[in-house]
Amino acid sequence: MKKVIATITALVMGGSLAACGKTSSSSESAVSNPGDKTIGIAMPAQNLERWNSDGEFLKNKFEEAGYNVILTYSDNNATKQNNDVIGLISKDVDLLLIAAVDGKELSKTLDDAKAKNIPVVSYDRLIMGTEAITYYVSFDNATVGKLQGEYIKEQLQLDDTSGPYNIEFVGGDLADNNARYFFNGAYDTLVNYIDSGKLNVRSGKTTFEQVATTDWLPENAKKDMEKNLNANYPSGTQLDAVICSNDSTALGVTQAIDSTYNGSNQPIITGQDGDEENLRNIVDGKQAMTVYKNLNDLTLVTFEVCKTILEGNVPAAGLVDSLPMEVTYDTGSYNNGKKYVQSYLLVPYVITKDNLQLLVETDLYKWNDDGKYLSKVK
Ligand code: BGC
Repeated sequence: MKKVIATITALVMGGSLAACGKTSSSSESAVSNPGDKTIGIAMPAQNLERWNSDGEFLKNKFEEAGYNVILTYSDNNATKQNNDVIGLISKDVDLLLIAAVDGKELSKTLDDAKAKNIPVVSYDRLIMGTEAITYYVSFDNATVGKLQGEYIKEQLQLDDTSGPYNIEFVGGDLADNNARYFFNGAYDTLVNYIDSGKLNVRSGKTTFEQVATTDWLPENAKKDMEKNLNANYPSGTQLDAVICSNDSTALGVTQAIDSTYNGSNQPIITGQDGDEENLRNIVDGKQAMTVYKNLNDLTLVTFEVCKTILEGNVPAAGLVDSLPMEVTYDTGSYNNGKKYVQSYLLVPYVITKDNLQLLVETDLYKWNDDGKYLSKVK
């Protein structure tokens, strides 16, 4: 938590990288006029809260620094995104920044980008199957799942009580490379308790493929959970916990619990992202926690990586020393099937109803007039 506060403090203090008085590994003498450069940004979808924030933050950050930006959204449709990226390449953008709908679908197109020497930065989600990716900027995705699993372990006091408890898993979209990391991070944390019978998965769904949620959509998570409850939790059978990989799936699960669950307890539901509706559910006790990924930090790191590349320099390990937040430079964890991608990984942290104020301290959220719920600062 100390590091989180350090990050927040750096940001609250207006901790821009320049203000740190340090430079990245880019050379001071690099000649570069941002106004001559265009960044092509491809985001997956506008109907999931977080990508709107990401798109907006990134666009603002680059434009404030004088760069031109073309921002596309692809309705969660991999073919549309592929066409969007083809369009960006044909406009001769100087750098592509992509959060992929389907990490595998873009590989051929990105090979063309490589042939044109357009650097490609994989944003939040790793793009698979191509040599074209120069850098990956994200959070430690396995840690997201691990934090969810550890939270359940603590709340159910798995080491100190005999149980048994009932748990279910609700994962993200099959095509999203992150989703598997989230699931595995959570599952691996709990697998010993599942194997020993302290945790029961009454649905029997214990693989990522079995619990994946199409397009990450709340309505799909709701449908899947209602089916599961009807089939496996009859006549008041208690469901103790649901590991939901993110907030959109948690929203659907919460709705399914409201509509279909008739046990006497409120299951402990996890999430990720800090979406507004989920934060309201956390205040109201319908969702227990969310794993928060500071998008301000992510935007800052991404900007610095891209800027360094655009100035003709190599970000590499040295960049992290100039960054005010905790970030790891990792060259051995994320393999996209073609190579280990040089990655900058930020640190996610747990938000519950007891530490919502931490979100306000990121400057990205504010308390509503009622003093009870939070809204995002627009
Ligand atoms: C992101 C999550 C997000 C999910 C659905 C993942 O790739 O890392 O933050 O909740 O996509 O949009």
